[in-house]
Amino acid sequence: MSVVAVLNYKGGVGKTTVAANLGAELAFRGRKVLLIDMDPQASLTLSFYGSDELAKEFTDSGTLLHWFQAFVNDQSAELLRDYVVSPPRVNEVLKSHGGQLDLIPSHLGLIDVDLDLAAHVGGSRFQISSDGYLWVHRLLADALGDDVFRDYDLIMIDCAPNFNMVTRTAIVACDHILIPAKADYLSTLGIDYLRRKLSELVRDYNGVAGAEAIDPAILGVVFTMIQFAGEVPIIAVRNYVTHTEQYDVPVFRQMIRESKTLFAAAGERGVPAVLLPHANPNVQHELRELATEFLTRIMIEGAT
Ligand SMILES: Nc1ncnc2c1ncn2[C@@H]1O[C@H](COP(=O)(O)OP(=O)(O)O)[C@@H](O)[C@H]1O
Ligand SMILES: [Mg+2]
Repeated sequence: MSVVAVLNYKGGVGKTTVAANLGAELAFRGRKVLLIDMDPQASLTLSFYGSDELAKEFTDSGTLLHWFQAFVNDQSAELLRDYVVSPPRVNEVLKSHGGQLDLIPSHLGLIDVDLDLAAHVGGSRFQISSDGYLWVHRLLADALGDDVFRDYDLIMIDCAPNFNMVTRTAIVACDHILIPAKADYLSTLGIDYLRRKLSELVRDYNGVAGAEAIDPAILGVVFTMIQFAGEVPIIAVRNYVTHTEQYDVPVFRQMIRESKTLFAAAGERGVPAVLLPHANPNVQHELRELATEFLTRIMIEGAT
C-alpha cells in the first residue's frame, strides 16, 4: 500500500483532475484505489457524485468534515473506514476489470476545521512545543493505520491549495508527493517554495520528541494543461521544465495537454475522462502513460 498526497499551493493547476484520472486508470488496471478528498471545494467528490447527490447524501454526515469534527468536539476517534464510499457510476465501468475505486468525500465546511485544529497547536504559528502538535499532525496517519486500509494498493489524497492543518495531516500520512503544475513562470517559482515548506515541516515534525520520523518523497512534478503547437508542446514549456529541474525536483516525462473539450464536462458523468468512451484519444493516451510512469515511480509490486 502506498499513500500519495497530490499537492500544490496553487489552485486550478490540475490536482483534482490528475488524482481522479490516475485513480480511475489504476483501478481500471485491476487495482484497489482509495481517493481521499481533502479540499473543501470538494471537486474530487464532485467528479464522482452529482451536486444533487452530494447535497442529499453528504450534507449532514459521511464526509471528512464530520470525521474531523468528531475529534474537534470530543477528541474521540471515529473510525475513518466508516467514511469510505464506492461511487456507483465509475465502479459500474470498473467492475468487469476487477478493480475498485473508493472515496472519502469532502465538504465545504472543511475549511473551518483548519482553524479548529490549528487552535490545538497554538494558533497560526503552529507551536512545535505544544502538546497538541503531534496529535493533530498524526490524525490521518494514525487513522490510515487501520487494517482495512492495507487492502488498498494505492491511497491518493487530493489536497487543498494551502499548507494549513488539514493539508499537513496529509503530508504526515503520505509516502510520496505528486505535484501537478502549469508550465509557467509563477508556477515554477511556486514549486520551489513548496519544496522548501515541505522540508521545513518534515524537519520540525521529526524534531518533536516522540515523533516517528517521516520522510515523504517528492515523486515528481506533472505538467498539465500544456499548450501544443502542432504535434509538440510550445517552446516556453521546455524552458519551464528545465527551470523546475534546476530546483532538484523530479519531473514526469509525461505531460498532459490542454483539452478544453475533454475536461470541460469533467465530473458530469461521474466517470473521469480517461475512462470515457469516444473521448480525445491523444489526451487519454497521455493520461494512461502518466499512470504507467506513476506506477514505475512508486514501484508498486507488479506494475506494468
Ligand atoms: N489538461 C487540461 N486541459 C484543460 N482543462 C483542464 C485540464 N486539466 C484540468 N482542467 C480543468 O481546469 C480546471 C482546474 O482543474 P483542477 O483539476 O480542478 O485543478 P485543481 O485541483 O488544482 O484546482 C477544471 O475545470 C478542470 O476541468
Ligand atoms: Mg482541486
